[in-house]
Amino acid sequence: VTATGLSTAAALARHPSMTGAQLRSAAPLPPPFQVPLPIPPVLRPVAPGRYEITQREASAEILPGLRTPLWTYEGTFPGPTIESRRGHPVTVTHRNELSVPTVVHLHGGRTPADSDGYPTDLVLPWSGVDHGHGMHDPRAVVTELTRDYTFPLDQRPTLLWYHDHRMDYTAPAIWRGLAGLHIVRDDAEESLGLPAGPRELPLMIADRAFAADGSLIYPALPDRPGVTEEYLAGVLGDVILVNGAPWPVHEVDAARYRLRLLNASNARHYELEAVTDDGRRLDLVQIGADQGLLAAPVTHATLPVAPAERYDVIVDFAGVPVGGRVRILNRLGAGRTREVMAFRVARRAADDSRIPGVLSADLPVWQRSDAVRVREFAFRAGRMHGHHGWLIGGLPFDPARSDVVTGLGDVEVWRLVADVHHPIHLHLAGFRVLSRSGRPPLPHDVGLKDTVSLRPGESVEIITRFDGYRGRYLFHCHNAEHEDMGMMANLEII
Ligand code: C2O
Ligand code: CU
Repeated sequence: VTATGLSTAAALARHPSMTGAQLRSAAPLPPPFQVPLPIPPVLRPVAPGRYEITQREASAEILPGLRTPLWTYEGTFPGPTIESRRGHPVTVTHRNELSVPTVVHLHGGRTPADSDGYPTDLVLPWSGVDHGHGMHDPRAVVTELTRDYTFPLDQRPTLLWYHDHRMDYTAPAIWRGLAGLHIVRDDAEESLGLPAGPRELPLMIADRAFAADGSLIYPALPDRPGVTEEYLAGVLGDVILVNGAPWPVHEVDAARYRLRLLNASNARHYELEAVTDDGRRLDLVQIGADQGLLAAPVTHATLPVAPAERYDVIVDFAGVPVGGRVRILNRLGAGRTREVMAFRVARRAADDSRIPGVLSADLPVWQRSDAVRVREFAFRAGRMHGHHGWLIGGLPFDPARSDVVTGLGDVEVWRLVADVHHPIHLHLAGFRVLSRSGRPPLPHDVGLKDTVSLRPGESVEIITRFDGYRGRYLFHCHNAEHEDMGMMANLEII
């Protein structure tokens, strides 16, 4: 039991799934499917391949009639979307006008270590420097007030996202708004004839909770008094935002749409389904995973999406009558968190898009027999520095310790074992799921991934090859509160 009277074991007993207790908004919430779906603005380069992003405070009308103070990239939540071409490097200059240090990580990017956003590799704030806590690390690299991040983007086209990654403070920074999309494209993907233009929609799904004045509610931090069970388990809001709007609605043609889904929630898991007014489920045809296109499409009735996972999905509204509605629902939610967003079919329209039977032919084909090493990691609750935390192999994150050292080009099998639900993410390396508790992977485990949903009590095997760059990277739980409470480790490629 800690000074706050709370123990991990007690909290686990109360919330055996450790999905946590949900925060309750005090603000008046809009009825579902009324607010129009925003599409995040696409950022214009200042020169070919060069972008500038200012991190600053701003406010937005998220709930009708109320202002929500946010931490933003360029004044919006989500931040602006960067659109890139495969193999065309991009440099983003981040300027920190917030009151705290920040770190930018491009999630899913194949990025050299010095631009990967190591958690102590800080962009210091312009003014009012408050170094906060968690900054005692002697290896912390104190850098400048702006920082250039260079991304080679020599990788399969896919939906990436950029977000804060500061040690111990990632979860509250993302919650306050520091997240944006980055889409990588190439000619091969564009020649497939998939739905495009207004029929391709990026959908960043994230839950939040709001105080009566419209400000965000967030529970106490671990080094401040009053650690709450909500914090320990991972923070869950009672309002579902898509692209920053609560339970939005979007008008569509009666045609195929490409939905590029990202679960940017700190801790909430979804199992999505698309349901018509007369209770019919539309197929969710998966064409891509975290790290780009599948070899061939896979059809799902419902689709589980863990924090930080991306799914590239085609939904065909052709069979829905004009005026009809298709609701995207979350089977894991209850009450208002069961609703996500809706599409309203506005008109019949021609559709020359297609879903080719062969989507890509460049997926890695690593075999178990290629692996030079097998490692096992347990992701479990435990005690760190005298208080509760989340551990990998019994240890909390320490930037000064080397946890995994591997050779450039080595193929490895990792066996990941969980107590409660943990979405596990590897920096740099895409991987394939080999098995779940000795059984074949689930249908949606298909393709090349960078985040895998490790379910309670499960043991999941993944296979990867550490190629691209040498240097110090990370792997961690992407329940953002678990990550901040220690569930992160170093991955050194030599
Ligand atoms: Cu999206 Cu290390 O994280
Ligand atoms: Cu976790």
